[in-house]
Amino acid sequence: MNMNPEERETVCKCGQETEEQKYERLDQVIEIYKSKPGSLIQILHMAQGIFGHIPSELQEYIAGKLNMPVAKVHGVVSFYTHFSMVPKGEHTIQVCMGTACFVRGGKEILETLTDELGIGVGETTPDGKFTLEVTRCIGACGLAPAVTIDNVVYQMMDSNKIKQVLKNGEFGA
Ligand code: FES
Repeated sequence: MNMNPEERETVCKCGQETEEQKYERLDQVIEIYKSKPGSLIQILHMAQGIFGHIPSELQEYIAGKLNMPVAKVHGVVSFYTHFSMVPKGEHTIQVCMGTACFVRGGKEILETLTDELGIGVGETTPDGKFTLEVTRCIGACGLAPAVTIDNVVYQMMDSNKIKQVLKNGEFGA
């Protein structure tokens, strides 16, 4: 299932992605989430997945898009940093939000997972079993979309496959 590092290098184009392309992807995410409850937190998690971090200019951009004070966005970013040691679920599911995965169905997989688990990005199920996260490119673009569960990479996923993985409990190392 895993690819060797050389194969990954030849297929992964995320390193060539421009800032503009990343912002375009973020705009799509903002469109999807902006009217949902808790949208700011969801969007920040997605931004983290796309950019790898959330610098102040990105915070300003998101604040502008959501029509809210930058201080509020900054407050949430700081809050999450502060509470980063909050225990995660027994299993951590990460959906890749890199370019290849995003356009080949990563977005739909994430929606399926939020429905199936009943939680949003960055949240943990009430039974403490799963934490749902997004991640930047993990170097498996050739077989996108990719999802990791407890650091095991599942490639060429789709909504049905991820449902099956959850149902069968086929996760983890
Ligand atoms: S975009 Fe590269 S592995 Fe998902």
